[in-house]
Amino acid sequence: MAATAAAAAMSMRIAALPSSSTAAFQENSSGMWSSSIVKASPFLGVRLCEPKHFSSQSFSFNPKAKCITKPQLQAIAAPVETKRAAPEARRAGLKSSVIITGASSGLGLAAAKVLAQSGEWHVIMACRDFLKAEKAAMAVGMPRENYTVMHLDLASLESVRQFVENFRRSGRPLDVLVCNAAVYFPTAKEPTFSAEGFELSVATNHLGHFLLARLLLDDLKASDHSARRLIIVGSITGNTNTLAGNIPPKANLGDLRGLSAALNGVQSSPMIDGGQFDGAKAYKDSKVCNMLTMQEFHRRFHEKTGITFASLYPGCIATTGLFREHIPLFRTLFPPFQKYITKGFVSEDDAGKRLAQVVSDPYLSKSGVYWSWNKDLNSFENQLSEEASDPEKAKRVWELSEKLVGLA
Ligand SMILES: NC(=O)c1ccc[n+]([C@@H]2O[C@H](COP(=O)([O-])OP(=O)(O)OC[C@H]3O[C@@H](n4cnc5c(N)ncnc54)[C@H](OP(=O)(O)O)[C@@H]3O)[C@@H](O)[C@H]2O)c1
Repeated sequence: MAATAAAAAMSMRIAALPSSSTAAFQENSSGMWSSSIVKASPFLGVRLCEPKHFSSQSFSFNPKAKCITKPQLQAIAAPVETKRAAPEARRAGLKSSVIITGASSGLGLAAAKVLAQSGEWHVIMACRDFLKAEKAAMAVGMPRENYTVMHLDLASLESVRQFVENFRRSGRPLDVLVCNAAVYFPTAKEPTFSAEGFELSVATNHLGHFLLARLLLDDLKASDHSARRLIIVGSITGNTNTLAGNIPPKANLGDLRGLSAALNGVQSSPMIDGGQFDGAKAYKDSKVCNMLTMQEFHRRFHEKTGITFASLYPGCIATTGLFREHIPLFRTLFPPFQKYITKGFVSEDDAGKRLAQVVSDPYLSKSGVYWSWNKDLNSFENQLSEEASDPEKAKRVWELSEKLVGLA
């Protein structure tokens, strides 16, 4: 019944796709077709994103951690695939297994590289552009036997379900899931929409990951790994208890009226709070959803399952593709500004080591935590803003999201 309502809401929203959005279809290497939305919005004003929070020039792991070894380049070899169920696969001596969404660039790629080169992890790179991910993995020297690229378009709930099926067919166990992929449209004047008709930042960053994490929870439960984890990448920009989080437009989910309206098939705002479209705010709101989701997972499942649920702010990685929609001048000036003025700059490599640490460091096993790093490069449990830690809001976002993705 609820699933039907969600489907109806979705179909109404698809019908409402603006003329500036075009659906594009592509075949992946497994012969499956996927859809994505091509955006045609003009670039306007300039806004800062992910500004200074911590100074970080280099990174060193917790010396007590044993899971990450120094990266070593290895020769390219044929991929190793199995068709066994999780417990047998583990007994057969497979490496620890981690899915990282959006591992084709930036933070996701850098973390994938660290984990694959450690020799202890097999990384499933869950990416919308199969070829780009393959090329990126090779370019950074990931040992061929330590990664698999699988197609996942988070902007399509159908693609998320298809990915989960394909992953299960691979027979690999799932020890850690990292919800990392994101899009950010800070200069967009008009919203673009996902396959199901949701505003694209919320669809990709939150709803796609919400469905993925909910479906793969069973796989994490089935893992016999000593440290099963679900990591959802957060952001300082969604936290209004920080200087960066106070740069307008501020994150604010309000009373969730925009998200609720989608359930009833009402043609309303593309924004969660029901307000006017603002691309930068949509991104920040989606990050608040990410952080609320992590905590709701923790409350509902940590005690029952022993799985660690965590989030992190990796630092300001000013060079990544996240800023690709910004005007060229911003993209040129933002990295030196962060590096030399705010000193909040973190390189992709160092940020990747931070994410890899949250995946594998036995000392970062506490659940329900939002990790950050201080000036001495030590990880610490950071405070989330009032909204990003509001349990009532987390519950409501969870319940609405369940309906919107067809789980309730
Ligand atoms: N950069 C920062 O300063 C910063 C700060 C705090 C937090 N973060 C967070 O870090 C995470 C990674 O961002 P990043 O800075 O590394 O940006 P990035 O380099 O642009 O990486 C984003 C990744 O997400 C993928 N992606 C986008 N839409 C997707 C979709 N529909 N389906 C599947 N994958 C999709 C991209 O794939 P393509 O390669 O195909 O585009 C790319 O691999 C995000 O969660 C972001 O919020 C970043």
